[in-house]
Amino acid sequence: MKVEGREYRSIWLAADGRRVEIIDQTRLPHEFRTVCLATLADGARAIRDMLVRGAPLIGATAAYGFCLGLHEGTADRDIDRIGSTLTACRPTAVNLRWAVEQMRSLLLALPAQDRLAAAYLEAARICDEDVRDNEAIGTHGLEIIRKTWEQKGKKSPVQVLTHCNAGWLATVDWGTALAPVYKAHEAGIPIHVWVDETRPRNQGAGLTAWELAAQGIDHHLIVDNAGGHLMQHGRVDLCIVGTDRTTAGGDVCNKIGTYLKALAARDNKVPFYVALPGSTIDWGIENGRLEIPIEERAPEEVLRVHGKTADGAITWVSIAPAATPAVNPAFDVTPARLVTGLITERGVCTANRAGLLTLYPERRDR
Ligand code: MRU
Repeated sequence: MKVEGREYRSIWLAADGRRVEIIDQTRLPHEFRTVCLATLADGARAIRDMLVRGAPLIGATAAYGFCLGLHEGTADRDIDRIGSTLTACRPTAVNLRWAVEQMRSLLLALPAQDRLAAAYLEAARICDEDVRDNEAIGTHGLEIIRKTWEQKGKKSPVQVLTHCNAGWLATVDWGTALAPVYKAHEAGIPIHVWVDETRPRNQGAGLTAWELAAQGIDHHLIVDNAGGHLMQHGRVDLCIVGTDRTTAGGDVCNKIGTYLKALAARDNKVPFYVALPGSTIDWGIENGRLEIPIEERAPEEVLRVHGKTADGAITWVSIAPAATPAVNPAFDVTPARLVTGLITERGVCTANRAGLLTLYPERRDR
């Protein structure tokens, strides 16, 4: 996507062909700053401290983190160490584990002297595949938006509500939940997006609103608690969100607060779609509520907000009494029964094993 007229991905190889560049998402929307990662520790820190975030981008960063780690050694034990360092960074997004496994199995099958070059090729392949998959999600999701527009008699913009940031910044490019929105905008379908601010880290306010403004897409920022009210008053046609892990049974784990939107959508007969690439499906589990580890983040993220002051400083401010205890689960699970459909790179399916297997038949006998 373009930033001030220049085409960007969210991660790319530096000009020296060795280091890796990313956009520091902790500075957005106030400052557009890129950061160069030179070591495995840099890659791990970028994932842990959320300079990069979003399941597909975490996976891509892990793939390049592997390349950076191999400069410190290419023996089997180095591969194991790199893999466990990266996997430990964030527990919920399954793309992290998926990318580490892709790299591990490819590299362990090669002689040590061939591993470094092969790792860079594989990381680039994972990134290119993510871009292709997300664009395909956009194309499939566009048809849902087009149908909604036709059902409205093409009289008023399609109103989409989204949660967190599942735009191009959460992936290598295009995004998952926002890819259909970008495609609809390109196709000339009038569209308006309700952007949940998404406490505690405000990825909606800082990232989704920034992305949509940069692409000239009509949107309004709302507080997390406004979605139900807007749905009750017929002001939301569709919800589209992303996911950090989807089970083989169709349960969807996404940013905390997604479940409440799905409940409100069901009560108000608003279709609730989840957009995801195949790399986000965890085929090994069925029940998301019982089986997905939910990342618990620091209480400080709840007790403070991050923003820009009138004198231009980018800082944290406290919003609660100093001694207030807080808990901070970062994700929740929306049960499959509340999900209208899963929008994948291979098409749209029902949120259950049978639906997923129609699109991924190669998983049938595993
Ligand atoms: O904690 P984050 O910002 O990495 O979480 C990302 C999300 O939960 C997003 O909502 C997104 O849908 C999943 S990645 C496309």
